[in-house]
Amino acid sequence: MAAKKIASTENVLTTPERVKSGVPGLDELLDGGIPKGSLVVVSGDPGSGKTVLCMQYLYYGAKYHNEPGVYISLEEEVDELVNMASYFGWNLREQMDKGMLEIENIELYDFDKLRNTIETLTEKLGAKRVIIDPGVIFRLYFEKELDARKRILSLGRMLKRLNVTSIITNEISLDNSSSLFGLEEYVADGVILMYHTKLQEKFIRGTGILKMRNTKISENLHPVRIDREGVHILAGQQLFEDVK
Ligand SMILES: Nc1ncnc2c1ncn2[C@@H]1O[C@H](COP(=O)(O)OP(=O)(O)OP(=O)(O)O)[C@@H](O)[C@H]1O
Ligand SMILES: [Mg+2]
Repeated sequence: MAAKKIASTENVLTTPERVKSGVPGLDELLDGGIPKGSLVVVSGDPGSGKTVLCMQYLYYGAKYHNEPGVYISLEEEVDELVNMASYFGWNLREQMDKGMLEIENIELYDFDKLRNTIETLTEKLGAKRVIIDPGVIFRLYFEKELDARKRILSLGRMLKRLNVTSIITNEISLDNSSSLFGLEEYVADGVILMYHTKLQEKFIRGTGILKMRNTKISENLHPVRIDREGVHILAGQQLFEDVK
């Protein structure tokens, strides 16, 4: 009885260890970082910065935190990603040569291959960070919604078992709120929304945290900048603050 009490007190007091995202401003919106071992979905408009953010997260972990990472690309080729990253000064090849990163382009026809590749590469590298981009394509693997649901849940469980902190991206138009939440968001521990929307005569970038388990999150939408150093979130400002 006494032991039980101690255990429950410990549970209340324990806050999860946090993984630093490498994206300036993001950790401030997340009470210090992404809870270790979480599955996070980054959902957003086309061109909102999902891929850059994922690459930044992975590169930063490998280079500055000694945390190996695996990037599963369901769309862009490895060379395309390496080139994109070099624009931001991130030398992916160097990290790949050191055994800190693996990038794998997987064709869209075999869900089991996707699972096996993630598992094999994660174990090979001792990876702590995993990206699947763009993850929304999952649904195209399956004819039946029920099958999709089962398999996505099992993928989520596998990522937990591997003890990685993972990001799956989801391409959606946030303007069309009827299509906002897919299955992945419900399975996820956290959802980060990335906006790239037209406001009057220009496009603006923004982000907001829809949910993050075990975390006190910012309730606001914040402006986002993408420049030669990658994605930055202006955590001290609110989106539309300066819009007349
Ligand atoms: N190599 C690069 N050079 C210059 N700008 C870049 C580069 N890569 C990305 N960007 C900028 O970052 C923006 C976001 O790109 P990113 O590919 O991350 O968007 P995304 O949300 O992944 O888009 P999609 O839904 O098409 O996958 C681009 O629209 C572009 O403005
Ligand atoms: Mg992308």
